[in-house]
Amino acid sequence: LKLAVLASGRGSNLLAIIEQIKNGNLQAQINVVISDHEDAPALKKAEEEGITGIFLDPKSFPQRKEYDLALGKLVRQYQGELVVLAGFMRILGEDFLTKFPQRVINIHPALLPSFPGTHGQKQALDYGVKISGCTVHFVDPGVDSGPIIAQCSVPVEEDDTEENLARRILAKEHELYSQVIQWIAEGRVEILGRRVKVHQGQDA
Ligand code: GRF
Repeated sequence: LKLAVLASGRGSNLLAIIEQIKNGNLQAQINVVISDHEDAPALKKAEEEGITGIFLDPKSFPQRKEYDLALGKLVRQYQGELVVLAGFMRILGEDFLTKFPQRVINIHPALLPSFPGTHGQKQALDYGVKISGCTVHFVDPGVDSGPIIAQCSVPVEEDDTEENLARRILAKEHELYSQVIQWIAEGRVEILGRRVKVHQGQDA
């Protein structure tokens, strides 16, 4: 499965995916990493791993529509079959999404539909929930609102800080994202309306 990874920042999920590909747990290849931030550490990490990293500057386009179209062209050019959002901080519109139906996924640091948007970990902590976690979902034009593929729970501890909770959630993100990509590579993930069915693997 050929991946196009979109990342705006740190790139720890990108790195986790690269590791899982290297150690043979994930049958995929990253064809390109694209960022909307020129100085994104994710771009640097990609290049260090010999992966093409491209900065697509939002300021070079009059509006989101033009940006989305250019982004779609790039993904096509690099033959991305699955678009993996890994900390990509822009909302993708229909102009992009209709080109890759059921082929764009995102990871979010909370148990959706609770606490979408930015700072999902802090929102959960402030609300006082006892369990949070992470969610991998298909992307639709809303904010963190597409069909949920998989979730992993993380207990909120007494006196937890945003930083500690975020760190424990991130560790789970790193496992879950590659797992879901592997399921997709195996053709096991089916969207049935709002619900997503993950079919059993051959070795199950
Ligand atoms: C992660 O917490 C992810 O859930 C969210 O953005 C963050 C990206 O982190 N969508 P990284 O750039 O992969 O380290």
